[in-house]
Amino acid sequence: MSGVNEIRSTFLDYFRRNGHEVVESSPLVPRNDPTLMFTNAGMVQFKNVFTGLETRPYVRAATAQKSVRAGGKHNDLDNVGYTARHLTFFEMLGNFSFGDYFKERAIELAWNLITKEFGLAKDKLLVTVYHTDEEAAGYWKKIAGFSDDRIIRIATSDNFWAMGDTGPCGPCSEIFIDRGEHIWGGPPGSPEEDGDRFLEFWNLVFMQYEQVTKEERIDLPRPSIDTGMGLERMASILQGVESVFETDLFRHLIDAASSEIGKGPGKDNVASYRVIADHLRSSCFLIADGVLPSNEGRGYVLRRIMRRAMRHAQLLGASDPLMWKLVPALVREMGQAYPELSRGQALITETLKLEETRFRKTLARGLGLLADATETLHAGDMLDGETAFKLYDTYGFPLDLTQDALRQRSISVDLAGFTDAMERQRAEARANWAGSGEAATETIWFGLREKLGATEFLGYDTEKAEGVITAIVRDGAAVDAATEGETVSVIVNQTPFYGESGGQMGDTGMISGEGVAIEITDTQKKANGVFVHIGKIVSGKAKVGAAVELKVDHARRGRLRANHSATHLIHEALREVLGTHVAQKGSLVAPERLRFDISHNKPISQEELEQVERMANEIVVQNSPVTTRLMSVDDAIAEGAMALFGEKYGDEVRVVSMGTALHGQKANRPYSVELCGGTHVRATGDIGLIRIVSDAAVAAGVRRIEALTGEDARHHLDEQDRRLKAVASALKVGPGEVLSRVEGLVEERRKLERELTEARKKLALGGGGGSGAGETETIAGVSFTGRVVTGVQPKDLKGLADEAKQALGSGVVVFIGASDDGKASVVVAVTPDLTGRFSAVDLVRVAADALGGQGGGGRPDMAQAGGPDASKGEAAIAAVKAAMAG
Ligand code: ALA
Repeated sequence: MSGVNEIRSTFLDYFRRNGHEVVESSPLVPRNDPTLMFTNAGMVQFKNVFTGLETRPYVRAATAQKSVRAGGKHNDLDNVGYTARHLTFFEMLGNFSFGDYFKERAIELAWNLITKEFGLAKDKLLVTVYHTDEEAAGYWKKIAGFSDDRIIRIATSDNFWAMGDTGPCGPCSEIFIDRGEHIWGGPPGSPEEDGDRFLEFWNLVFMQYEQVTKEERIDLPRPSIDTGMGLERMASILQGVESVFETDLFRHLIDAASSEIGKGPGKDNVASYRVIADHLRSSCFLIADGVLPSNEGRGYVLRRIMRRAMRHAQLLGASDPLMWKLVPALVREMGQAYPELSRGQALITETLKLEETRFRKTLARGLGLLADATETLHAGDMLDGETAFKLYDTYGFPLDLTQDALRQRSISVDLAGFTDAMERQRAEARANWAGSGEAATETIWFGLREKLGATEFLGYDTEKAEGVITAIVRDGAAVDAATEGETVSVIVNQTPFYGESGGQMGDTGMISGEGVAIEITDTQKKANGVFVHIGKIVSGKAKVGAAVELKVDHARRGRLRANHSATHLIHEALREVLGTHVAQKGSLVAPERLRFDISHNKPISQEELEQVERMANEIVVQNSPVTTRLMSVDDAIAEGAMALFGEKYGDEVRVVSMGTALHGQKANRPYSVELCGGTHVRATGDIGLIRIVSDAAVAAGVRRIEALTGEDARHHLDEQDRRLKAVASALKVGPGEVLSRVEGLVEERRKLERELTEARKKLALGGGGGSGAGETETIAGVSFTGRVVTGVQPKDLKGLADEAKQALGSGVVVFIGASDDGKASVVVAVTPDLTGRFSAVDLVRVAADALGGQGGGGRPDMAQAGGPDASKGEAAIAAVKAAMAG
């Protein structure tokens, strides 16, 4: 039973049997608390349940909670490796009562578990209670049969537990085991209490209060219970070993490290192995929960932990990056209990490898500089702050790494000097951007970036989080507060809102807190990482320092994700169909559509577009997971990731891969691999459907494709379908016959038009359709035909006149066409033998004149003119006749 994995399940089973709901560990990045850097105890996910803000369908719970104590109120980083029990990452086993049982039952449950299930010897156990808590002392006497000397009363904060500066809190009772005289140390409260002989392994907190602000403490709605047992400590007790690092799980990790390094731990270097094993766990779990190394916030704590481990790997003589090679051992030990480790294995491995490869480039030189700078220093001396800052700034040594490196020689670091050097550098940077000519409204963001640091973006993993308002900007100036009706830009220390970049539009949603609600209509990224939430205060007053909840508009974000992922698939499909010269020239990922510009200098055929759409949809149907990794730009490009020309990338980039190629050279390899900071669907199937709706040229050599996804694509198809059905019903055929029916109709219409033209001509030539005054007559000794015709197009009039002229053989023809709007056109034709006597041009002018028009033109044998008044047709013919008669 004493393996770490078995202890965990024994604990959870025991509480399940005792009416507790076994709840999963929450992530290491707390979603429900803006004040906490990392989840540092089992109760964090239940914080709002204790205070009554949130209710759950159970009143008793038990968890094995991933916890990190490497920043903030609970920080054990500096001790790791040098004591038998401190860890940055540990698992806290806990049972919770939300207003259900209280002290007596909590003590009873704990006592039965450790003595009956775990079989700990009763005479080795002792407890502490808060000095005024006689009630708890009484229950220990009654339940465990302890005499007063085994119940130690402590007056300090050691026995009053608080999550952080604010949050639920209460007096607590800690359970200790005496590990025997051979280990140095004294009982709690004694001067030797820091030794390892008396080991605290379980803390029972009697949650009674909520610390609302630093000054104000109120009662919780109902007294509750929160307990925390260190799994690793319990394992060391049950396995009879002196330190947590000798338990099965840690032994396996240390074995993996020593087999890579080629030597086992000895007295001199065991601390390094322990640091590596602990830091491996915290690094991998943090990466699995979405934290990536950076120079700010959580990412910087992760970087510090990673680099500290890397220095110890170097100390042990590892010649190549080591940490990434240990990931399989960790996944073997803990992957079953925490599947996120196996899921994130690729990302974890690459992140560790990249960080260590990069850090190794400066590590040896930095250590050389440190050795030179401390050559003449002795125990008790101090390293100057300037050197510590140079190590930080130029060689990437986090301050605590430098402190750790000097720890064994008992040399400290001049912290004030370090801060001064840092401040000097900031002032220089400030002077630089102030002179960079940014518009005044933009300058404000640089100032805020400088003062507040970059915003921590949580939106890859969550759409909801808590944060603290760190700045409010109204009308271009920073203010402390703003009120209802005002439009403001709000900065929060951490946010799930995506700031517009890479073509993807910013998120919208709500920011709300006590007495304030702000409707966010846009989010922009400014000054290298400040997320600016733009919106209107719909009620109350927004204040700097207020805790708020940030909620992204989920439906809109879902559409943005689908459209962004679809952009990647269309991009790849276009390259396959049109050729690899196709490069992205810009894109817009909006919620309702995506727009994608590419370089391609000829039209894209309908067939090609259909092929692109089909290929992209093949990957959608695969429903394969979309994976994200962090890599160096060079590695990413070497792997075939598509980088956008002209984009600025940092040292590290996110690489988004999706789908498996089905055909071609890339068959069975990832379909699309792109550098991208946007948000994406979890699996390609979430896109639903891709529909390309348009393709057009927007500039020389650039084409723009627009497409829809998911519901929008479906609506579009629905609409098309509705139209087709309407057409079919108007044609009185089934949708399948529409095409042949329309083709038939078009053909029929052509035929009818031809027949109609023929009929009109006949009519015009043969009489009946005209005025009736059109018989051939003889004028001035020549044959003459004059007609007013209707329903003949002006363009056909000449043809008619020609035909009539031929029919006459020798003579003069006048045709006057009346159009629907009452205007007239006139054609005069004269056979060649008569052009010496009559000019068609002269005669047409006579006719035009009679029709109220002017001019006319042509040749002597054929001339044309027009006039505004077709009712004068007969008069015009008479005028021509008169002219001929002379
Ligand atoms: N929340 C308590 C602790 O972390 C149990 O010690």
